[in-house]
Amino acid sequence: MKNTAQAYQRMLCTDLDGTFIGDDASMYELLRLLKGKDIALVFSTGRHLPSICTFISQNAIRPPEAAILMVGTEIYFYEQGDFIRDTNWTEIISRDWDRQKIRELLADIEELVLQDEEWQTPFKLSYYLGVEQLGVLAEIKRRIHQEKIKVRMVYSAGRFLDFLPHSSGKAKAVEYLARQFSLNREQVVVCGDSGNDLDVFEAGFKGIIVGNAHPELKSFTGNNAYHATASYAAGIIEGLRYFNFI
Ligand code: GLC
Ligand code: MG
Repeated sequence: MKNTAQAYQRMLCTDLDGTFIGDDASMYELLRLLKGKDIALVFSTGRHLPSICTFISQNAIRPPEAAILMVGTEIYFYEQGDFIRDTNWTEIISRDWDRQKIRELLADIEELVLQDEEWQTPFKLSYYLGVEQLGVLAEIKRRIHQEKIKVRMVYSAGRFLDFLPHSSGKAKAVEYLARQFSLNREQVVVCGDSGNDLDVFEAGFKGIIVGNAHPELKSFTGNNAYHATASYAAGIIEGLRYFNFI
């Protein structure tokens, strides 16, 4: 268990873009409401570390206790002024993962447009794929199945397609962090707005789907999810009140 985590009885894992970020006034209000509470704040996002650090300093917000980055393929703990990468997590997700093989298997699929190099890592292979081209997913799945490849495929926001190690993703990372913080599931609330958040809701965590969520998440019907009326961080506040977290 992490030393820094001992003071926390609960954990709030929130996505950034379209969830925590989107309405500055409610974002700052949420941070004010969390101040002094025994709730560990965790950012869970598709972004990378430099982008998180810029966001934190430009908006003068307090750093989270931990961060799940690059769609659950990287975990960091904030300790003594720095984000420290959890290499044990890297070890766990590297099992049964062959990025190059997937890259080659899909190389001739014209609908798939590789995202910029900054969004690619040894544990994340990311493309753009428009909603009007989703028909190609069947062929992608067929090839992956045929080659018996273990991979997590995540479609988000009508334009992103990520291929990730099967043991990674936001849900697995939240489960891992909850263990590190010695918290049980009941002590965790997750929040999101799009497809890369879906697995945390499917994993059964109590969660908040913000009012502005994309259809792929909004259509989630599990009763562990609270569908907020309000958008962005105002939706998080609404949900935290529903769950008696604040
Ligand atoms: C973020 C990442 C991108 C990823 C998307 C969906 O926007 O930058 O690489 O595809 O999240 O997970
Ligand atoms: Mg989002």
